[in-house]
Amino acid sequence: MIETWLGNEQTVNDSQIIVGLEIGTSKVCVAVGEVGENQAVNIIGLGQAKSRGVRKGEIIDVALAEEDVRNAIVEAEQVADVEIRSVFLGVTGSHVRGFNNTGVHPVVSADREITGADIQDVIKNAKAINLPTDHSVVHVIRQHFRVDGQDGVLNPEGMLGAKIEVDVHVVSGRYNRLQNPIRLVNGLHLEVDNISSSALASSLAILGMEQKELGTLVIDLGAGVTEYAVYSAGVIKHTGVLAVGGDHVSNDLAYGLKVPLARAEQIKIDHGSAVIDPEARDRKVGLSDDSLIPGRQINLGHMQKIMSMRLQETLELIAKDIGRAGLIEYLRAGVILCGGGARIPHITRLARDVFKLPVAVGRASTVSGVKNALDEPEFATPVGLIKFGAFQAKASPRRGGIGRVIRRQVAALFGR
Ligand SMILES: Nc1ncnc2c1ncn2[C@@H]1O[C@H](COP(=O)(O)OP(=O)(O)O)[C@@H](O)[C@H]1O
Ligand SMILES: [Mg+2]
Repeated sequence: MIETWLGNEQTVNDSQIIVGLEIGTSKVCVAVGEVGENQAVNIIGLGQAKSRGVRKGEIIDVALAEEDVRNAIVEAEQVADVEIRSVFLGVTGSHVRGFNNTGVHPVVSADREITGADIQDVIKNAKAINLPTDHSVVHVIRQHFRVDGQDGVLNPEGMLGAKIEVDVHVVSGRYNRLQNPIRLVNGLHLEVDNISSSALASSLAILGMEQKELGTLVIDLGAGVTEYAVYSAGVIKHTGVLAVGGDHVSNDLAYGLKVPLARAEQIKIDHGSAVIDPEARDRKVGLSDDSLIPGRQINLGHMQKIMSMRLQETLELIAKDIGRAGLIEYLRAGVILCGGGARIPHITRLARDVFKLPVAVGRASTVSGVKNALDEPEFATPVGLIKFGAFQAKASPRRGGIGRVIRRQVAALFGR
């Protein structure tokens, strides 16, 4: 477990190559990024494969998932012209939980000056968490320190005090279920530099400092899971995962319209809407090109009603959870959507009605490079994993575990 510090950005000296891997429910995606000075990320390659071995964000068929990951890696290697040895891996699933914890430590030195050792100790204390025995920690993210009750201290070193406290956000998951994707990656002779919750990764890709400061909710609408993260005052306050996503919308449509699932997915992409389009209310579309259901027509209004109900329910579950955490009023920069579901027409309108806040679709604005990755909201997680990797590299620059990627030209020199 590595403590994660996602605060103000600093510079790394040399540019390095970092790879992000998301084994998603609809697609496996590998992003290769070059991280230069001042943490700027330049995407130099993307590899993708349709995901066949994942449901609700978790692997259900190792052999299929392995093949899909291998294909995506090979494609990314070709595009970026690198040999990938290790990846930052996104993890998700209904077992992944986020919660806050506080560490407390008395300052023992005679002069009461807080030292680096005190800070280490209070953080160690915050990490001593009573998790269920089958859970393990994914992240312990530092939020703020408190010194003798003084709130919002960013770095207490050198201050005077009798008691330091630190608030942290913890993400944990079931050990075995976290190990499944790690083992799969290792089985492909790739190392895992570190794992990150996909929700956290997506938020890193699309939020700037100002949005984190003002307060923003990021929602990643994937195929099998919907993940979310709340930032306020520059730090992560809350994360969550719902095991509901675009696949459920398609399922509802298949059931409600009495069409095969693949057909429902296509109808959703072609005619879907998050709110009922008044013009579509009585419009019908034919399914005549489908030999199994000749002459069938579906009512667009009915179809959009089914879709909007499921999407609204999903967003309301998030609103309820954020409300329970008392965070709605902290979202001064509103809600940002990403993931494939952010492409659903009028999804921002539906979300605006649910949250009563401004809503926008997220763009990975702090990266440059392969245009595709920047424009499409469904690449937020892999791109964010690169940013996560860059933060980790900065936090522990001499850890040998990062960026084990060899440029092909260099590899050739060493006879690889
Ligand atoms: N234009 C669209 N309209 C409706 N749903 C869409 C659209 N584009 C993508 N989706 C949905 O987004 C989901 C895929 O999102 P993505 O973030 O790539 O998933 P994952 O990360 O889980 O693999 C699928 O359920 C897909 O149907
Ligand atoms: Mg995803």
